[in-house]
Amino acid sequence: MGNRCYTMLKPGVLNRRIVGEVITRLERKGLKLVGLKMIQITKEVAEKHYAEHKEKPFFSDLVGYITSAPVVAMVWQGDECVTLVRKLVGATKVTESQPGTIRGDFGLHTNCNIIHASDSDESAEREINIFFKPEEIIDWEDKTAEYL
Ligand code: PPS
Repeated sequence: MGNRCYTMLKPGVLNRRIVGEVITRLERKGLKLVGLKMIQITKEVAEKHYAEHKEKPFFSDLVGYITSAPVVAMVWQGDECVTLVRKLVGATKVTESQPGTIRGDFGLHTNCNIIHASDSDESAEREINIFFKPEEIIDWEDKTAEYL
């Protein structure tokens, strides 16, 4: 099965019509999409998701931003999934994210970060449980894996 990574296209991605383009980056890597939905996050859920950043000066901006419009929530699966997704996503700060990464190619301001990805297997499990019910994750039969 490999491990899983919670990934979220943040507000603005829908407006900019780049949902497909961003998902394609992760799909082309060979990762397996096992959960996908568009949701409007509530303040309570946003605060739970970002609980570890509660004391940061940008916490209220972060919560305000993520609740300002719908997001696209996803669960990706594959060997070393968290590490691979985070490499494709790139560094958090716009001045540090390399061209060729999702943030490096599509983001202009750090506070309008376009994508979130879990930073460890433990975070992934916690975040997936916040946003997905077990029945919303479908581990479909992957006949391509043997060719990758
Ligand atoms: S830190 O300080 O290293 O813990 O921050 P980091 O883990 O890199 O980022 C945590 C999330 O906060 C977002 N972020 C910001 N939002 C608004 N304003 C500022 N200045 C800012 N700096 C970081 C960052 O995009 C992370 O969000 P996610 O959704 O996890 O990408």
